[in-house]
Amino acid sequence: MATSFSSQQSYIDEFNPKDYLQTYYEPGEGTLLGEWTDFVLKNLHETFTLGGVRGETVLDFGTGPSIYQLLSACEVFDNIIVSDFLEQNRAEFQKWLKKDPDAFDWTHIIKSVCELEGNGDDVEEKAEKLRSKVKEVLKCDALKENPYDPVVLPPVDCLLSCLCLEAPCKDMKSFCNVLKNFQDLIKPGGHLMILSVMNSTFYYVGKSYFSSLTVKKEDLEMAFKEAGYQIEKAVYVPRTDRSRMDVSNFQELYFIHARKPK
Ligand SMILES: C[S@@+](CC[C@H](N)C(=O)[O-])C[C@H]1O[C@@H](n2cnc3c(N)ncnc32)[C@H](O)[C@@H]1O
Repeated sequence: MATSFSSQQSYIDEFNPKDYLQTYYEPGEGTLLGEWTDFVLKNLHETFTLGGVRGETVLDFGTGPSIYQLLSACEVFDNIIVSDFLEQNRAEFQKWLKKDPDAFDWTHIIKSVCELEGNGDDVEEKAEKLRSKVKEVLKCDALKENPYDPVVLPPVDCLLSCLCLEAPCKDMKSFCNVLKNFQDLIKPGGHLMILSVMNSTFYYVGKSYFSSLTVKKEDLEMAFKEAGYQIEKAVYVPRTDRSRMDVSNFQELYFIHARKPK
């Protein structure tokens, strides 16, 4: 399929958070339910809850209107800062935070994490725990040297980002540059966790098309090394459910856990 790069303006004009949540996370139809959510929830559970990565603050970059990626982190960090480029995504996230009746219902995902943690019935308690840990909802732009400009954030223990960098980055040079700029946001010895998809060229949000940087395994690890990180763990899993390649044509999932040198 011919692909044209999605500009920041096309995100501002066309990315509808309600359509995004419905397309990807709605029970019974969400394209990312199953393989993707199982992959992320399991890896983050193993890394945070079982793996001993913990600290004061975790910064989620490119949160979108989503909460699933924060459900293990809220067990081991005191503060969570979420951030996204789009005002409409930050507003949708705030709806969940404030228990707005119009907020997306994440119960199915929260239940899965409670089950991983061996507390299957504590869905409401878990949601409240996450809400209590989210201290800020900020604007960010991956393409700025300081993505939070004019805000200067104190460096954090962990920067987490899911399904984000393939959106704003035109090529691997830009991807590597974003990783380099992340260095200033992370404490020495701190953690960088990127979870996303490979070999993808597009994804749909409702009827709107968005481009995706086509990331390949060999370029990916090289980008982390070139940006000055030590790779602690890299997990790659092929996509087996190919039923909705028309919605998003990614071929593999990846999780890279890297550290900024001390
Ligand atoms: C596919 S969504 C992922 C959202 C969420 N992390 C998830 O896993 O469901 C891509 C996200 O990248 C964000 N994004 C697009 N351009 C960006 C930029 N220049 N800087 C930061 N985030 C950006 C979008 O607003 C959107 O929330």
